[in-house]
Amino acid sequence: MTATMEELSTGTDHERVLLCRDPEAGYRAVIAIHSTAAGPAAGGTRYWTYPSEDEAITDALRLSRGMTYKNAMARLPLGGGKSVILRDGKDEDREALFRAHGRFIESLGGVYMTGEDVGTRPADMEHVGKETKHVAGVIGDPSPYTAKGVVRAMMATALHRWGSQDLAGRTIAIQGCGNVGFHLAQELRAAGARLVVADVDPERVRRTVDAAGAQAVPPEEIYDAAADVFAPCALGGVLNAETIPRLRVEIVAGAANNQLLEEADGDRLLARGILYAPDYVANAGGVILLAGREVLVWDEEVMLARIDGIYDTLLEVLGLAQDQKVPPHIAADRLAERRLASLAAERRASI
Ligand code: NAI
Repeated sequence: MTATMEELSTGTDHERVLLCRDPEAGYRAVIAIHSTAAGPAAGGTRYWTYPSEDEAITDALRLSRGMTYKNAMARLPLGGGKSVILRDGKDEDREALFRAHGRFIESLGGVYMTGEDVGTRPADMEHVGKETKHVAGVIGDPSPYTAKGVVRAMMATALHRWGSQDLAGRTIAIQGCGNVGFHLAQELRAAGARLVVADVDPERVRRTVDAAGAQAVPPEEIYDAAADVFAPCALGGVLNAETIPRLRVEIVAGAANNQLLEEADGDRLLARGILYAPDYVANAGGVILLAGREVLVWDEEVMLARIDGIYDTLLEVLGLAQDQKVPPHIAADRLAERRLASLAAERRASI
């Protein structure tokens, strides 16, 4: 049986959506290219079990659009794309699977480049790399950079909310003491903040309590913590109709992707007077690192300056939200669309 690539028409604004199959490798994947207006579409490869092919397609559409906005907002000359490989739960040959993925990416001729995402690891990307050069190499752990960006986002949000960006003496509740949460706790401690932390993994809690002098609470209680800022650094969808009424903070700023369970949750936060730092603005440190190291070959100083720039971007988002009387997550999309249009114009002018 031969490998096939089927062009799907989804009725969305995506440039191309491809259903790729290589039965011999046990491979079935969706590669969604949302936009190449600002540059080659960049976005990781997710390896996940989906209830149906339709759900995998929906996920790829949503995630690839998210990458366009995230890259444009960070002013990176990159478009947005994403792949999802459907995991079928049977015996898998990861080398065969990821090499098949690499061959499809190669056949696209550089309009899409990928890297690790949920469910994939460095060895998988090495297999992809045997078939195509359009894959990010091992860049090391991005989480310290992501954490730095989250701190800048928090400072900007604090300035907008309280008239001072100083986090000294503020209490910050961090959900998730994983890679980002751990580094974030240490940065905030150094800035003089008080910390309340939670994680489902007691070992990770202990490590963070020891390193950052944090106070630990059980995972379910983090939403009720009396604090100034809530920093979601674990899972998506944690801001929802059930949790938002429980929050006792004035700011939400954290690293987790897709923090709002649904659009209406952005309005719920606003109605409660809680200022939200849109997730894809606050957590852009990782993608800036990836693009800076792999594509744009920036030195460390330039990269850190770009991560610092998250502060100005967030102030612009919050200013726009205030002027246009919309919640910050809507203002963020509007600013990302503007930035995408100007990146696309620059690119057209340079060709
Ligand atoms: P991680 O997997 O190292 O840490 C997540 C932590 O959350 C784990 O320690 C886990 O035990 C904990 N957790 C899971 N469920 C929980 C619950 N119900 N309550 C409390 N804790 C819970 O992941 P990492 O790298 O720290 O990323 C955190 C979030 O930030 C993720 O949503 C990720 O997608 C996002 N992100 C991470 C970036 C990075 O550079 N690592 C870049 C951009 C976004």
